[in-house]
Amino acid sequence: MTDTVPDQKHTDEVAAWWRQAVVYQIYPRSFADANGDGIGDLPGILSRVDYLAELGIDAVWLSPFYPSALADGGYDVDDYRDVDPRLGTLDDFDAMVEALHARSIRVIVDIVPNHTSNRHEWFQEALAAGRGSEARDRYIFREGTGPDGSQPPTDWVSVFGGPAWERVDDGQWYFHNFAVEQPDLNWDNEEVRADFLKTLRFWSDRGVDGFRIDVAHMLTKDLSDPLPSRAELALLPQDGSHPLIDRDDVHEIYAEWRQVFDSYDPPRTAVAEAWVSTPERRAKYASAEGLGQAFNFDLLVADFDAVEFRRIIADNLAQATLSGSSTTWVLSNHDVTRHATRYGLQPLNGRHVKQGTEWVAAGGPEEQLDREGGLRRARATTLLLLGLPGSTYVYQGEELGLHEVADITPAQRQDPAFFRGAEFDGLGRDGCRVPLPWTADGSSFGFGSGGAHLPQPAWFAQHAVDVLAGDPSSTLSLYRDALRLRHRLQTGESLEWLKTDRVDVLRFARPNGWQVVANFGAESFDLGADAEHVVLASTPVSGAALPGECTVWLAPDD
Ligand code: BGC
Repeated sequence: MTDTVPDQKHTDEVAAWWRQAVVYQIYPRSFADANGDGIGDLPGILSRVDYLAELGIDAVWLSPFYPSALADGGYDVDDYRDVDPRLGTLDDFDAMVEALHARSIRVIVDIVPNHTSNRHEWFQEALAAGRGSEARDRYIFREGTGPDGSQPPTDWVSVFGGPAWERVDDGQWYFHNFAVEQPDLNWDNEEVRADFLKTLRFWSDRGVDGFRIDVAHMLTKDLSDPLPSRAELALLPQDGSHPLIDRDDVHEIYAEWRQVFDSYDPPRTAVAEAWVSTPERRAKYASAEGLGQAFNFDLLVADFDAVEFRRIIADNLAQATLSGSSTTWVLSNHDVTRHATRYGLQPLNGRHVKQGTEWVAAGGPEEQLDREGGLRRARATTLLLLGLPGSTYVYQGEELGLHEVADITPAQRQDPAFFRGAEFDGLGRDGCRVPLPWTADGSSFGFGSGGAHLPQPAWFAQHAVDVLAGDPSSTLSLYRDALRLRHRLQTGESLEWLKTDRVDVLRFARPNGWQVVANFGAESFDLGADAEHVVLASTPVSGAALPGECTVWLAPDD
C-alpha cells in the first residue's frame, strides 16, 4: 500500500465549501409531512431529498426542529439535543443527514442561544428553586420596582411587543427579549456557556456541517444598576457598549465556539443572524476567529431599484473583503414578507418596500397585489443575486414563485408577533410559513395526508412542484437552470462593474468572463451583439432587446 500525501489544495477547497454556496432554508414544519399529522417532519424532508438534489443546492439550513411548544415557531427550544417527537427522532435526523450527504448536500442547523423556552428543564428548575438560587442565575431574574416590587424592573418592551419582563409566583421578574415563553439566558453563567459547547459538539458529531446562530448579537448584556429607561436605551449608541445589543464581549463566546468548529475536519461553519448598526460591526461576527460569516439582510429592506441594489452589492463585497469572509445574499426568509409579494405591491410613499403594517394600510393585499409583476421582479433579482460572488440563501417556496399568503384568519394565525402587535410586522410572519404545494391535486397539495397546519390558498395549485417541474419557463426551471450554470460562473470572488449608460441597468463581469445584465427599468435595453451570448434569462428575450425588469446571464465563447 502506498502512503498518500493529503492534497492541501483539495483540503482547503473542501473547508471553504460555504464561501459561494447556495443554501436552501427549510422551515421543517411546513416542508413535507410524512406521517399525516398536518405538521412537516424529518421523514418528510428525507422523502424529498431527490427534489433538493435536482434543484442543485449545496446545503440546507433547517430552522429549529427541537422539542418545542411552538410559542415562536420552534425558536422556543425545550431541549437543544433532541428532535420534537412530532417531527421525528434522532434516528430520523441521522437518516436524513446521511441521505443529504449522499447527494453532496451539506446540513446547517439552527442554534438558539439567546433564550430557551419556558418549558426547558433549566427554567422549570429556576422557577422551583426560588430567588438567589444557582438555577435562577442561568437566566436574568430581578426584583421589581415600586414599594412592593409589583412594577417591572424597567419599562423595556420586547421585540414582539408588550413588556420585556414577566413576574413569577414569588414576585421576582425575568427578562425576555422576545415572547414571554422565551426567557433570556444569562451568558455570564459558566454552565450556560459550557452547555452550548456541548450542543455544538453534539450536532457536529452527528455530521452537521454548520450552524446558523439565532440573534447572535444579543447574547451578552450589561444589566448593572442603574438600568436605563426605554427612552434612554433608545438613545445609547450601538458601538459595542450598549447594554443589550451587539456588545463587544459577545465575541469572546464566538472565539470559544470557533475552537470547537475548528476541532472538526473539515471545520464546522457558522453564520450569524446579527442585525447590527454598521457593516464594520457586522464584519466582527464574520471574522475567521469568530463565527466566520454573517447574514447580510440589506436586500430585505431594499426597494426594487438599480441604484439601491448597486450600492448594497458594492458595500457588502467591500465588507466581505474587510472580514476575509464571503458575503451572503438573502431576499426572503421565514421572518419577512416573500419578495415576490414585496415587489408586487403598489409603491407606498414612492417605494415598493412593504412590511405587514404598510401592506394592511395600503388597502388589503389581494386588491393591491400585482402578482405577475411581483414575480417578474422577483425572478430578475434572484438571477442577479445568483450571479454575484458570495453565498446565496434561498427560502423554501421561492423557487415555486410563491407569494405571501394573506388569507389567514386571526384564529388560524400562530405567530406571536401577530398577537402581540409587534410594530415591525402587523400581519405577522405566518404568510410565508404556509406548507408547500407539491402536487396540484390531492390532500394539502401533496404536503401530507392530514391537512396543513396553516391554510393553503386555492392558487397554490398553480405553483405546485408537479405543475412547474415539466415547464421550462417556470420559476422552478429558472432556479434549476441557474444553479446548474452557477457552478461554471462562480470561479472567483470578485466582479467588475461595466458601464451601461443607464442608471436603471446594472452590468458586471466575473473573472472568467461571464456577465450579468439586470434591467430594473420599464424600457428595454439594447444588448447588441452580446445577445448571442445569453445563456439564461429571467423572462423571455427575443433579439437584442433585453426587456424591462429582466436579468440575463451572458457566457463567453468557450
Ligand atoms: C428568528 C425568528 C425568531 C427570533 C427569536 C429570529 O431571529 O429568525 O424567527 O422569532 O429570532 O428567536
